[in-house]
Amino acid sequence: MGRVSSRLEDLPLRDDLRGLTPYGAPQAPLPVALNVNENTHPVPQEVADDIVDAVALALRDVNRYPDREFTSLREGFADYLGHGLSRDQIWAANGSNEVLQHVLMAFAGPGRTAFGFAPTYSMYPLLTRATGAEWIAGTRGHDYTIDPDDAASQVRVLQPDVVFLCSPNNPTGTPLPLEVIRAVYDAAPGIVVVDEAYGEFAPRDERSALTLLPGRERLVVSRTMSKAFAFAGARVGYLAADPAVIDALRLVRLPYHLSALTQAAATAALRHAPVMLRMVDEIVAQRDRISATLDALGYQPYESWANFVLFGGVDDPAATWQALYDRGVLIRDVGIAHHLRVTAGTEGETTAFLDALASIDSRS
Ligand SMILES: Cc1ncc(COP(=O)(O)O)c(C=O)c1O
Repeated sequence: MGRVSSRLEDLPLRDDLRGLTPYGAPQAPLPVALNVNENTHPVPQEVADDIVDAVALALRDVNRYPDREFTSLREGFADYLGHGLSRDQIWAANGSNEVLQHVLMAFAGPGRTAFGFAPTYSMYPLLTRATGAEWIAGTRGHDYTIDPDDAASQVRVLQPDVVFLCSPNNPTGTPLPLEVIRAVYDAAPGIVVVDEAYGEFAPRDERSALTLLPGRERLVVSRTMSKAFAFAGARVGYLAADPAVIDALRLVRLPYHLSALTQAAATAALRHAPVMLRMVDEIVAQRDRISATLDALGYQPYESWANFVLFGGVDDPAATWQALYDRGVLIRDVGIAHHLRVTAGTEGETTAFLDALASIDSRS
């Protein structure tokens, strides 16, 4: 007898999960995919060879559980980040999404709140709600910048348990001045996470939030290998914080959450950080080319310190998105009226996007 599968609504799902929609950026096999801010350059061959050797070695011991403390990898991240950090200040997980989930599991949860300045990374509310906490959206200026005094007063009024500051911000690309971080930290009662997923694409002479860590034991700076390191498929994110924060994260992670193969691959990749990051300047050049061309085409690109550009002036974003799709180019409709977001690709991909857009008249 055939079974009819039940519907989500009929399941004894947690009440607070009812009506939510999962993260769902389209994964379509189009020739030019510029929709999820990946690094579209492959890992350089010489690094790939070294990673394969490291993974092959790790496979010999794969009958054993991996190093639960991923010691070598934490040392690798501490060396890469610099700023005098040591491995007891480093945490890592399967993508920075999981790193942020660990932070929320330890510091948010039922009866607590997490806060961010909207529009910001779409996973913050989803991760927050999955821990049973409430998400509260704050506001930005009209150009998506954040004023330090305004930010501090929003945080002072709401007293959130966790604050997310995305630097630079996704989906807008907006830089985040260190004064905002200082002001929000002083106003916040709880954990302040500065998400520097796109930090490597910022101008080289700009200071990272890592410089603010000394003396701020509630400050967390998260990073990822998914973007600048071209390692999205390997799923490796990490953070730097006070050792006591790291101890808190040990309470909520699954034992052996980072597989031996992931640890081996990431540790090997980190040994080649300069080569892995080789394409960053080229991506920044393509990003700036996108902004200049969009401007010339009559759209309104926002200043971006990331590997993508948000642009306004789009008459009907859904129609433009579809017209680009039909031309083999996938970009992102982030749900902001009259706006779309595009990731900087290789020179060829970027040209394909710009040419396709120029062939569509979709300015508002
Ligand atoms: C701001 C921000 N943080 C974190 C992530 C998560 O990246 P991952 O889980 O691949 O490290 C992303 C991914 O797009 C992002 O845009």
